[in-house]
Amino acid sequence: MKITFAAKSPVAPESVAVAIFEGRTLGSAARDIDKATGGALGRAMATSRFTGERGQFLDVNAPSGVKAARVVLVGHGKRDKIDDLAAQELGGKLVAHLNQAGAKKVAVMVEGKSAGSSAHAAHLAFGARLRAYRFDKYRTKEKAENKPTLGRVTVVAAHPREAQSAFGRLDKIADGVFFTRDLVSEPANVIYPESLAQQARTLSRLGVEVEVMTEARMAKLGMGALLGVGQGSDRESRLVVMRWNGAPKRSKTAPIAFVGKGVTFDTGGISIKPAGGMEDMKWDMGGAGVVIGLMKALAGRAAKVDVIGIIGLVENMPSAKAQRPGDVVTSMSGQTIEVINTDAEGRLVLADALWYCQSKFKPRFMVDLATLTGAVIVALGSYQAGMFANDDDLSAKLTAAGKAVGEPVWRLPLGSRYDKDIDSDIADMKNVGKGREAGSITAAQFLQRFVNETPWAHLDIAGVAWSKSATATVPKGGTGFGVRLLDRLVADNYEA
Ligand code: BES
Ligand code: MN
Ligand code: ZN
Repeated sequence: MKITFAAKSPVAPESVAVAIFEGRTLGSAARDIDKATGGALGRAMATSRFTGERGQFLDVNAPSGVKAARVVLVGHGKRDKIDDLAAQELGGKLVAHLNQAGAKKVAVMVEGKSAGSSAHAAHLAFGARLRAYRFDKYRTKEKAENKPTLGRVTVVAAHPREAQSAFGRLDKIADGVFFTRDLVSEPANVIYPESLAQQARTLSRLGVEVEVMTEARMAKLGMGALLGVGQGSDRESRLVVMRWNGAPKRSKTAPIAFVGKGVTFDTGGISIKPAGGMEDMKWDMGGAGVVIGLMKALAGRAAKVDVIGIIGLVENMPSAKAQRPGDVVTSMSGQTIEVINTDAEGRLVLADALWYCQSKFKPRFMVDLATLTGAVIVALGSYQAGMFANDDDLSAKLTAAGKAVGEPVWRLPLGSRYDKDIDSDIADMKNVGKGREAGSITAAQFLQRFVNETPWAHLDIAGVAWSKSATATVPKGGTGFGVRLLDRLVADNYEA
């Protein structure tokens, strides 16, 4: 789908989308068309349930008096209530509506002449693009009637160049989101540690430095926790370090860091998972996928900040070589771990990735992302990610960024009582807590033992990395949740 900005509508557009506000109040473009058609829009509204409430649509087909084959009335709600997010949602819903209707081209008439109208146009286009995403590379015989029809969106705004330039930055963020969605959607016979590392390497085209560590290198560094998870697989494990150096040269501040769980398939290992739904575990590399997509977005828009992205890549398989329940491994930190359940593998991977990150780079803060626990889905469902933090300031910034972009996070507690639950009888700690109690919290406590004093937040994205139904700007499937959130965290707080 191609998106462009223009000052005027094409002469004979196939479809024109116009704004209607609360109480069936016509916007200026709608007023012009209503006049030219002898009041067709007003009559159409009068015989329908369409009131102009935000998110409502009404098609007026082939009205005489205008060249357009279809006029789409788009409910905008209250005029002053349309912020960036609301504009994105309108754009996304409009795309879904037009694909349903079979439209091929649309001119979207944006109201107003102020600077705000350019931002509105840009965010509308952003939402449209986000919703138009599809992962269809493996479909060879999809029927034409099931394919999306909409190929062209012209956003008609008072200051098209201004809108275009505001969109430029959002477009790069969408590139990052799409990369994450692609990676998360790929099956595990295509995406495994080595091939995912290869995908990360492609970011070097954008100026990201990418280093890929082999198992031999990780063994030298003492990463026994990560390597233990991968030892049952025929696929070799990898640790990837990505660096974007965007801060002005004179700035001497430490980098910020993002760390992702990249379990390219999680069978559970010897503590094997039941068959039903196990295919979902192809997206157990969702945290790593977000870190890669985020690096792409930041590099794409040339963010003025130094960023480290680290992803721990393993495949968790049962085999004669696999780690057993009860095995004790030594992590890079020197701390020993009794592996009670081989399905609690994400924390083992992150233990070494987090330790390496803080000891090597001394970052200002670390945020890790992981599809870590089923328990967080029980607690929060699929609308918000669980957040844990040892730092109130970082937590507040993440909460604000999440709200601003529509990727909300909800803080859950850490505490010494929970920490005790992962003490082991024979090693420094075990990798699970007490039964099913507070499963997301004990997982976070485990991670906290590997962050040292670094300001840190952990986002448990198990409930939000994949969606079973579409929202305005997120089709079902891989969501890319976290890319927009962390891009915003960076933009609002850490850029020079
Ligand atoms: N990858 C899973 C968590 C998960 C579950 C992600 C469902 C997405 C959807 C993780 O590795 C896991 O298996 N966690 C266990 C931990 C338990 C063994 C302590 C869980 O949540 O059951
Ligand atoms: Mn698991
Ligand atoms: Zn897992």
